Order: sequence, then C-alpha cells, then structure tokens
Amino acid sequence: MSKITTAVLKDKKNKNEKITMLTAYDYSLAGMVDAAGIDMILVGDSLGMVVLGYESTLPVTMEDMIHHTKAVVRGAKNSMVVGDMPFLSYHISREESVRNAGRLIQEGGAHAVKLEGGQERVDTVKAIIDAQIPVVAHIGLTPQSVNQFGGFKVQGKDLETANKLIADAKALEAAGAFSIVLECVPAMLAKRITEEVGIPTIGIGAGQYCDGQVLVINDMLGMFTGHIPKFVKKFANLQPLIIEALTAYKNEVEKGTFPSEEYAFAISDEVLDKLY
Ligand code: KIV
Repeated sequence: MSKITTAVLKDKKNKNEKITMLTAYDYSLAGMVDAAGIDMILVGDSLGMVVLGYESTLPVTMEDMIHHTKAVVRGAKNSMVVGDMPFLSYHISREESVRNAGRLIQEGGAHAVKLEGGQERVDTVKAIIDAQIPVVAHIGLTPQSVNQFGGFKVQGKDLETANKLIADAKALEAAGAFSIVLECVPAMLAKRITEEVGIPTIGIGAGQYCDGQVLVINDMLGMFTGHIPKFVKKFANLQPLIIEALTAYKNEVEKGTFPSEEYAFAISDEVLDKLY
C-alpha cells in the first residue's frame, strides 16, 4: 500500500471506493491499524474517554493530543494520521487555532487536523488551511458540544436541523476542508450530504451511504467497558480474552509455574561456583 494523501481520498470518492478510518492512540495499535491497510488513523479526542477515563472529551488538552499523536505517527507507515483538535484549542481566536493546529503537525507529526463545528467554524477552517494544514471537518453529533446538546443524541432528525447540516457541509467544503466526519445523523440525511459535496464524507453512526466509515478502536475491538453506542459493531470481543490471559498470568505467578526455565537466562557453572 502506498502513502494515503488527500488526493488519494478524493480519488476514492470519485471512483466510488469506500474509505476506511479508525482511531488509535498509541504506537502498537497504530502499527496494527496501518498493517491492516486502513486509509486514515484518527488520534481522536475520544482518547479522553477510552484511554484516560474521563466522562466526556472536554478535559482533553493539547498536550494530551500531541503526546498520543507522536506515538501514533511513529507506528503508522502509510495511513494518513489526523490529529483531533481538543475543546478550547480552536475557539478563542484565529491565531490560537492556527498555532494549535500547527503544533499537531509540527510537534505531533500529524498529516492533517480535525475540528468540530459547521458554519460557525468556517473562518477558523480557512485560517488553518491558509497555514497549509489540511482540515477534516466534523458535524452532526459533535461530542465537544455535549452540554449544549443535552447528551449524546442523534442530530438532524427534523427538517430545520437537517437543512442546517446540509448547509454546514457545503460551507465547510467551500472553506477548503478535504473531508467531513458525519456523526450520529440519519442514514438518508448522510446520503443527501454525501451527494451534495465533492469531498469524502466519513460516517460514524451515519449509515451505509457515506464515502467512508470510522469507529473508535476500543469500541470495535470490544476493549472498552463503558457505554457502547448502538452504531458500534464489535468486530472482536477482546475484553474477556484479555481478562482470561491476565488471570492465567496471576495463577501461574502465584503457583510458581511462571517463569519456567525457557523464560529465564542461564549463567555458566564457573561463574555460579564463585557466587556460592
Ligand atoms: O474523537 C473521536 O474519536 C472522533 C470520532 C468519533 C469521529 O471524533
């Protein structure tokens, strides 16, 4: 597989080939996602919930994002790495937004950044793109707005909000975003948006008609113990397997059967004799 660029993704949309994206937050899993040939790796601020144990993504900081982005970039050879901009990193001023996006690229090594919001973020998106940084937009259920939405709810179910999401997508495309994540919107609305824009849409809880799909890796591997949304398919159920392996380790250490000789290092009799 060759390196994934924005041009490759656009080409995939034009050829009707689906785009794959997963989150990852560390070197080891990023390497596996890359080895599986996944097009894009999102270092999502979802790490606040699935890695750091917060109740929402709001406490995640730029330092958290840079730290995890660096690890993922070291593990990814061909996948495009997208660094998520955390809450308050692009809300205060255009200058601060560009600086923070730039840090994800310069310090983190990401190839692009993602930020949440529709028409209200157009100026910010333009400013970041002016600094030569590719931007993925994110509309629908934007988790950083959880307090404004009053919970994690499906968005765009009535005509007014559906039309607003279509207008948001068009405005973000016009601003220069190269892709848009659509989160938790009805499948037929996601289809309409996908037909309306020339850039790839990546769905999560947005049905089958998007140009691509993204899932949170801990959810789809069955490694997260918290609430799992309805749209998540568990492609593996690793949690019981991991607990089984950990229990076997505990039992073997307690019984003294681990480590056996094959896991230990030898010393010559000559040296040993002098030790006793
Ligand atoms: O942070 C994240 O993982 C995301 C995805 C849910 C799209 O934004």
